[in-house]
Amino acid sequence: MAIVELMKKRRSIRSYKISPISRQVISRIIEAASYAPSGLNRQPWFFVAVSNLDLKEKIRQECEKHEQRFYDHVRGSFKESLSFLNLSPVKSFLTEAPYLIVAFAKKGEPYWNESMWICIGYTILKIQEERLASLTYTPPQMSFLNEMLDISKKYKAVAILPIGYPNEKVDLSKRKRRLIDQLVRFIE
Ligand SMILES: Cc1cc2nc3c(=O)[nH]c(=O)nc-3n(C[C@H](O)[C@H](O)[C@H](O)COP(=O)(O)O)c2cc1C
Repeated sequence: MAIVELMKKRRSIRSYKISPISRQVISRIIEAASYAPSGLNRQPWFFVAVSNLDLKEKIRQECEKHEQRFYDHVRGSFKESLSFLNLSPVKSFLTEAPYLIVAFAKKGEPYWNESMWICIGYTILKIQEERLASLTYTPPQMSFLNEMLDISKKYKAVAILPIGYPNEKVDLSKRKRRLIDQLVRFIE
């Protein structure tokens, strides 16, 4: 599929079929993502792919606990956007999706955060190319993932990407994009 077509078709999915996906697919996705550029080519990323249901349940429980605290205090435009997208502290996709890819970045490497997020961009596009769906999920607190997944404190979890076959129809009116005139100013 052409790259722009992939970009336009990709949408955040928050409900998944339980149909399994293979470890080979996950490996292909991570391998493709590793071609992302990074500061001084330090490739400051590491991924943990979780399909174990007990572990997914533990991750969900912990995330929902932090989400509940966050929702109890959120105000203003942030709150409005959450309700516009029908988001709530319940994160069933964390146990529904056959795999969760937890993205860790090695803190302290040059441009580690910027590099990590380019890599995540590559990851979600490759997922789309595999005709699967995902979500860039960023729970309010993620440090518990180091201990739960036995990852050194040198790494910071930056996102959890559920991945699987979509079980929802997307309302595109909620995913509008700004028009090109609002995005760029040419100086020639
Ligand atoms: C950095 C980042 C953090 C995000 N965090 C969350 C999140 O915590 N929960 C969620 O449901 N969606 C999250 N999203 C998904 C956005 O809500 C979504 O990309 C946006 O609404 C546009 O919709 P689309 O991805 O379908 O085009 C995040 C996206 C990005 C890029």
